[in-house]
Amino acid sequence: MTTPSPRLTVIGTGYLGATHAICMAILGFDVLGVDVDPVKIERLRSGEVPFFEPGLPELLAKALDSGRLRFTTSSEEAAEFGDVHFICVGTPQQKDSHAADLTYVDSAVESLARHLRGRALVVGKSTVPVGTAARLTELVQRVAPAGTDVELAWNPEFLREGYAVEDTLRPDRLVFGTDSEWAEQQLRAAFAPVIAQGTPVVVTDLPTAELVKVAANSFLATKISYINAMAEVCEATGADVTGLATALAYDDRIGGRFLKPGLGFGGGCLPKDIRAFSHRAEELGVGQAVAFLREVDGINQRRRARTVDLVRELTGGELTGVRVTALGAAFKPNSDDIRDAPALDVARTLHRSGAQVTVVDPAATENARRAFPELDYATDAMTAAAGADVVLLLTEWTQFREIDPHAMGEVVGRRRIVDGRHALDPAQWRAAGWEYRALGRP
Ligand code: UGA
Repeated sequence: MTTPSPRLTVIGTGYLGATHAICMAILGFDVLGVDVDPVKIERLRSGEVPFFEPGLPELLAKALDSGRLRFTTSSEEAAEFGDVHFICVGTPQQKDSHAADLTYVDSAVESLARHLRGRALVVGKSTVPVGTAARLTELVQRVAPAGTDVELAWNPEFLREGYAVEDTLRPDRLVFGTDSEWAEQQLRAAFAPVIAQGTPVVVTDLPTAELVKVAANSFLATKISYINAMAEVCEATGADVTGLATALAYDDRIGGRFLKPGLGFGGGCLPKDIRAFSHRAEELGVGQAVAFLREVDGINQRRRARTVDLVRELTGGELTGVRVTALGAAFKPNSDDIRDAPALDVARTLHRSGAQVTVVDPAATENARRAFPELDYATDAMTAAAGADVVLLLTEWTQFREIDPHAMGEVVGRRRIVDGRHALDPAQWRAAGWEYRALGRP
């Protein structure tokens, strides 16, 4: 017997939740998006995506037009409406610790559970420390009027910012952590159109499903830090990390993805996930097993410091009064997200060292200005570079990659560039009279 199409709620309409709610409505489900922030809900209702994500505004318009997607601030309405409830709230790093802050997850789950009067499945999607699902199962069944008729499952999310729509509609794999056959069938029904495309499904237990997510992000972070560690060695030997990475990538067992050397990883996920994982492992008495993640973090931080050193080397050691243009603020291209952004970290360190820093970014300027009003901001690269002593490429947006070194050479004070992302052609820039420096290259 096939399970009828469940009605879905998506609790938390940030990056993950808004994308999930919109895409599920596009796939044909009736979806109710829920958030405690009335401003966010109003914006979504009026067809506005509150963050930058290519393709998502068009899909939101389509989903709203279909009548299958609505938004509310009421968890009571959500409990009455849904059969399957996805928890998509954030788990940021705690202020004074490396641990994940689970306040939002706990409160979202509890507010929903309080109104669950019939059989329902609560599905965690947020990235959490292993063991959270077991604790939440107990919480839900204790608080919900329906008691053990409410079950909990875990379905980690692997979407990348900038490719969120594609990753949600056509994921590499689905992971279902469940405690019962019924929960698995509910999840299979909730993802029926995705499964029908041939997407592999891994059905497992709750702790494994929780761990898959942090294990995946840790692996990706490790791969990036591995090549950046090689860049450090290259710097000491006169070798070239870009040639090294290209040669490694031809080995299928290694592969070239996430092997791009440069300024390293940032964002709202990789940095905090590896820290929270280390913290949780320590609590579980297996801290040593993931002790290497501290080194992964350390290598990543050193790339930021080294980028500042390259600027110093170009200016003869002095930074006071040096005019610097920072191309990029977002933690990666095609995003307006500045959480733990390597670009802004470098810009702020230079500013603190006395440099006069002008930042330009196609999407993240407003977020950056709000967070760091002490920096100067420009609306385009040429204006930002006017009179600059050093230009830094910090986020590899296409429009920065395509800058004509001759044209930019006309507006700067000195033709000196630090390519923090290996995104430019050194030969082309040098031919245009620029002194070109990049991490891990002679
Ligand atoms: C990451 C994961 O890739 C997703 O699978 C996961 O779902 C998501 O975190 C999450 O936990 O929610 P995201 O943070 O959007 O996605 O960004 P990535 O594309 O992974 O890039 C992370 C950082 O690594 C960026 O700062 C990027 O510039 C840097 N990076 C990436 C490198 O320095 N080198 C590379 O080769 C690749």
